[in-house]
Amino acid sequence: MAIILHLSFVVIVGLGSCYDDPPVLGQPRLYGPDAALLKNTVEFYCRLSVYPKNETILLQLFKEGDRDKILGEYSSLNGEQGVFPILIKPFHDGFLECVASAQNNTSIEPTVSKSHRLRVIEPVKNAEVVVSSGQTELFENKTLELECKVAKGTYVNYYWLLNEEEISDTTYRHFNDNQLKVFRTTSKDSGLYMCIALNSYNETIYQSNSSTVQITFKAAVSTPQPSFTVLKENMSYSALVSCHSLRGTPPITFTLHEFDDEIGNVTVDDRNATFKIPIALGQHARWLKCTADNGQQSTSKDWMELKVVPVEGPVTLQYSYDTGSNFAVVGLTFNCTASKGTHVKFEWFLNGTLLPHTRGPFYHMVNVPPKSSILLLAVDRRSAGTYHCEASDEFDNTTAIRSRGKYLDKEVLNRIPDVVVAVVFGSFAFILALVCICCGIGFVYSKM
Ligand SMILES: *[C@@H]1O[C@H](CO)[C@@H](O)[C@H](O)[C@H]1NC(C)=O
Ligand SMILES: *[C@@H]1O[C@H](CO)[C@@H](O)[C@H](O)[C@H]1NC(C)=O
Ligand SMILES: *[C@@H]1O[C@H](CO)[C@@H](O)[C@H](O)[C@H]1NC(C)=O
Ligand SMILES: *[C@@H]1O[C@H](CO)[C@@H](O)[C@H](O)[C@H]1NC(C)=O
Ligand SMILES: *[C@@H]1O[C@H](CO)[C@@H](O)[C@H](O)[C@H]1NC(C)=O
Ligand SMILES: *[C@@H]1O[C@H](CO)[C@@H](O)[C@H](O)[C@H]1NC(C)=O
Ligand SMILES: *[C@@H]1O[C@H](CO)[C@@H](O)[C@H](O)[C@H]1NC(C)=O
Ligand SMILES: *[C@@H]1O[C@H](CO)[C@@H](O)[C@H](O)[C@H]1NC(C)=O
Repeated sequence: MAIILHLSFVVIVGLGSCYDDPPVLGQPRLYGPDAALLKNTVEFYCRLSVYPKNETILLQLFKEGDRDKILGEYSSLNGEQGVFPILIKPFHDGFLECVASAQNNTSIEPTVSKSHRLRVIEPVKNAEVVVSSGQTELFENKTLELECKVAKGTYVNYYWLLNEEEISDTTYRHFNDNQLKVFRTTSKDSGLYMCIALNSYNETIYQSNSSTVQITFKAAVSTPQPSFTVLKENMSYSALVSCHSLRGTPPITFTLHEFDDEIGNVTVDDRNATFKIPIALGQHARWLKCTADNGQQSTSKDWMELKVVPVEGPVTLQYSYDTGSNFAVVGLTFNCTASKGTHVKFEWFLNGTLLPHTRGPFYHMVNVPPKSSILLLAVDRRSAGTYHCEASDEFDNTTAIRSRGKYLDKEVLNRIPDVVVAVVFGSFAFILALVCICCGIGFVYSKM
């Protein structure tokens, strides 16, 4: 055991004594700028502090991980610093390293510097807003995706403007490099979008403004509701059918359908369209539907019945009344009904004079479409007189049909009507009969 230890000691000492100046190559150090402008020439330096005497040292500049391509070379004698002038190209961006090796002595191991980060700056040029979907008109709630594309530029920062105001990051807006995403869009996200691309080198800022892109968010059209009124011109009749959507960004194209046929279409700048179609009175019903389209389409769910029956008599007037605590009549309800008609207009008269408003000091009219109207009356001095009603077609005031008149004042009303008398007398007779029967039975029992 001791012999082996002793032997190895002799070998080590013997080897050491063969080279009294051991050739050692220290780690080179690479110096240079952290950033450089594209197409400019910049210099990098490689320096050795520990190197063997009388050996030519070869210093080489490489991109890290790519030893096939020598970016610069320098033969250094006696510790001279290597100088590498480099014309900056895009591929220089990344990590550089310097390799030192003894030119004519393969027994000396080459050494590598620490890597040096170089950013290659190319000034930005020609920023441009690109809409990912290609569409500048979108419906609300769609996600807007914009990209700021630059023709040239590295290490670029992007800023976004909407109507000349900078957009900040919110829950609904996300920035990612050169992208802008807007979620849950509304009409408020409409406007002129612009991006600014910026980069800098040595305190010089390079900036490129894109041109603006108009983005419009539209509200989808809501289900259109059809309705119609009747128009009489000379002796012919037509229906003015209107299609109406509550919401939706115009322009909207409305189409009117009768079963499978398209009767007409019109594009409007609001949410109403009117179609005039000729009709004949009293004929069988026609069925219509509307479709609204502003890029998104919506059709009314139910068919609308288009049927016009002119007013027909007799026009009947009926009444009922409310009594107060002392059985006096305090309120009265008239009901006026036409026997036929789909578009009937009612008018009420007192002493042959039209009651001009739907609400007066002692009355209130309520229409019960299609062929009734109610007049509610408070019974006092002002409401006394003769009442009648008239029914006419809404579209033709020459057709008025008159009801019979009904005279009314407080005394007339508070005379007990015949029916009431009959009921009271009837009840009285019934009670009288009961009493007699009871008396009769009582008499029979007392006899027993
Ligand atoms: C170095 O090289 C020169 C000639 O190239 C020679 O004269 C000199 O002796 C050498 N010195 C050493 C230390 O080897
Ligand atoms: C190193 O070797 C090259 C050929 O490989 C030769 O031309 C050169 O003179 C040598 N230099 C030294 C210092 O020995
Ligand atoms: C940086 O800019 C300054 C002043 O503009 C200039 O003196 C200096 O040479 C520039 N440096 C480089 C590396 O271009
Ligand atoms: C770019 O936009 C910014 C901010 O709106 C403005 O200050 C600057 O003048 C614009 N530059 C050019 C060249 O239009
Ligand atoms: C609208 O009507 C015209 C004819 O009046 C027709 O040529 C056109 O196709 C219709 N448009 C639509 C969207 O239905
Ligand atoms: C559209 O039609 C509806 C009824 O159908 C009406 O209430 C509304 O005032 C109309 N609006 C316009 C702008 O014509
Ligand atoms: C209506 O005529 C009656 C008499 O027939 C009269 O007593 C009453 O005051 C008149 N009413 C009005 C409001 O003119
Ligand atoms: C019917 O209406 C027209 C226009 O609204 C009016 O000129 C005419 O006097 C009216 N006729 C009747 C009987 O009320």
